[in-house]
Amino acid sequence: MRVYALFGSLVLVAFANVASGAPRTLTLRQSIAPPRNWVDLGRAPPTHVIPLRIALPQPRFLELEEHLTEISDPLHERYGKHLSKEDVEALVAPHASSVDAVHEWLDSHGIRKEACHRSPAGDWVTVRLPVAQAEKMLGTEFRVWKHTLDGDVLVRTTEYSLPAHLDEHIELIQPTTAFNRAKGQRTTFRFSPAPETASPLSSDDKISVAGSGVTVDASCNTTITVSCLKQLYNAVDYVPKATDKNAIALTGYLEQFANFADLQQFYVDQVPAAINTSFDVVLINGGLNNQTLGDAGAEADLDVQFALGISFPTPGTFFSTGGRPPFNPDTDTPTDTNEPYLDWLNFILAQPKIPQVISTSYGDDEQTVPVDFARRVCGEFAQLGARGVSLLFSSGDGGVGDGDPDPATQTCFTNDGKNQTKFIPGFPASCPFVTAVGGTVHIPEVAVDFSGGGFSNYFPRPIWQDVAVGKFLASLPKGTYAGLFNPSGRAIPDVSGQADFFRIFFRGRAVHIGGTSASSPSIAAFIALLNDARIAAGKPSLGFLNPLIYALNGVGFNDITAGNAPGCGTPGFNATAGWDPVTGFGTPDFGKLKDIVLKF
Ligand SMILES: *[C@@H]1O[C@H](CO)[C@@H](O)[C@H](O)[C@H]1NC(C)=O
Ligand SMILES: *[C@@H]1O[C@H](CO)[C@@H](O)[C@H](O)[C@H]1NC(C)=O
Ligand SMILES: *[C@@H]1O[C@H](CO)[C@@H](O)[C@H](O)[C@H]1NC(C)=O
Ligand SMILES: *[C@@H]1O[C@H](CO)[C@@H](O)[C@H](O)[C@H]1NC(C)=O
Ligand SMILES: *[C@@H]1O[C@H](CO)[C@@H](O)[C@H](O)[C@H]1NC(C)=O
Repeated sequence: MRVYALFGSLVLVAFANVASGAPRTLTLRQSIAPPRNWVDLGRAPPTHVIPLRIALPQPRFLELEEHLTEISDPLHERYGKHLSKEDVEALVAPHASSVDAVHEWLDSHGIRKEACHRSPAGDWVTVRLPVAQAEKMLGTEFRVWKHTLDGDVLVRTTEYSLPAHLDEHIELIQPTTAFNRAKGQRTTFRFSPAPETASPLSSDDKISVAGSGVTVDASCNTTITVSCLKQLYNAVDYVPKATDKNAIALTGYLEQFANFADLQQFYVDQVPAAINTSFDVVLINGGLNNQTLGDAGAEADLDVQFALGISFPTPGTFFSTGGRPPFNPDTDTPTDTNEPYLDWLNFILAQPKIPQVISTSYGDDEQTVPVDFARRVCGEFAQLGARGVSLLFSSGDGGVGDGDPDPATQTCFTNDGKNQTKFIPGFPASCPFVTAVGGTVHIPEVAVDFSGGGFSNYFPRPIWQDVAVGKFLASLPKGTYAGLFNPSGRAIPDVSGQADFFRIFFRGRAVHIGGTSASSPSIAAFIALLNDARIAAGKPSLGFLNPLIYALNGVGFNDITAGNAPGCGTPGFNATAGWDPVTGFGTPDFGKLKDIVLKF
């Protein structure tokens, strides 16, 4: 932490207008370099309203982590003994003195307790404030920033301050310095090559896959359907049984909504048994669900069609989270520019019942998220894991980089002012408490060249990764990419799945689409089927998956050993025997995994 210097000493900058007398000094909490590819358009309108979210420290968080470690370790006697909502809330509750200190501070700015929203555990306090007031309280200036490449506009600041006495009572406040966005991780839409019908029902042409021993329609090499994935991942004959208890969900951000009519066309094409069934839509914080066909989102359509198509008749939910309304920086119109994950997390953690598997195909470069904020958000994912929820995230579509081939705009440079060249891992995939899903292509499967992978610069390698990742690192020729990645970081992806040539229905037409956006919802669906088998056998859901996946050390997965994922002007890492930072342990063999997960 740096402190504003005044009169050549530490301390002091702004005098907060404390009604009750003694002026308080502010000390700098966080200061970041203006992030790459964002231009400063000038001061934010003083009346622009921001929902400031104040994170209070969670003094018992390590205890929560210990519980999570035990209940997700398949060899531990507490495996699967998920915590209740109340248990988790007790473990993340702030100290009463922090609650008091925060409200006293807010009160000194005329903000009454009743005007604040508190999360069920009390660990987040949210207050909607005009920019002018937030600036006064945080000793900063909010500015309007525009992304030079995609035109996104955010109201953010590059630093903020707080009274020093709040150091131990406030962990962080956002949205202030977090420039991450929930951008959909898809690569390409291929509109025309989609053939008229999915299965060229002349399925005499088969590919035998060495290794797993499955047989797959030859057409699957160029067009991926629900049936292809069930064949390839060995789940053809599985019939879900626990559909009254088991569930799967997808999250959508930005202007993404899944179209019911597109889903019906998809079902007619690929899952006739599911015709006339649908899914629930939950709107969060102004999330949209515009069923005008022309407004469907490709990402949302892809996620819903494949996740629900594979796991049918498991009930599905689509969470549509708002938070990026049109923002016109030239007007004074108060609008929100939220941070994407917090609204959803706040909502979902408050629910008494949560779908057991949730897939998210959104993310951004890890370095666009301030490290304290990334840790806190990651800790929220741990809470979901402790409640028995498996979270899957696509690992990114840029190999070891950000996917931008243009060195002028690519972000393989550190944002910390030093401008070092570095590989760019994605967040939230880099959070150890989520399962990162990379991509493969073709049959036999090889790594797809955009599969996001690498090593976190924020999160240390969790113990359960030591053996597998250690082995991979030891196999790298000495000095490989030295300085470009953090060999002691959490490594991604954990697993992978097919990622290209997915045949979906989008705005009324069959199209091909690809990206690790396609992998995450489909692998999530196979996890949902594993949960189905467990729940039907009277066992709890799998919950946080990674300790199990790494304990299996490749058993139950098809190892992908060919291909690489370039990025940052390098060929990136190679897919190798065993775990690798391109495809993780590989793709699931549902049949084998089902037998395994029924054993404990
Ligand atoms: C599938 O397509 C890839 C890429 O074109 C090719 O290398 C591979 O041989 C094909 N697989 C089969 C079984 O034909
Ligand atoms: C689906 O619903 C429509 C309208 O109610 C009906 O005409 C059609 O027969 C149904 N199709 C199936 C396969 O159930
Ligand atoms: C939503 O649907 C309405 C028509 O019902 C349309 O006018 C509007 O432009 C659509 N799009 C959005 C983003 O609201
Ligand atoms: C950072 O370094 C790269 C490569 O040396 C260079 O292209 C880029 O302009 C530099 N950016 C800044 C902001 O200094
Ligand atoms: C990937 O494999 C190629 C071919 O075997 C090899 O030349 C290259 O050094 C490998 N790259 C890494 C990063 O291991």
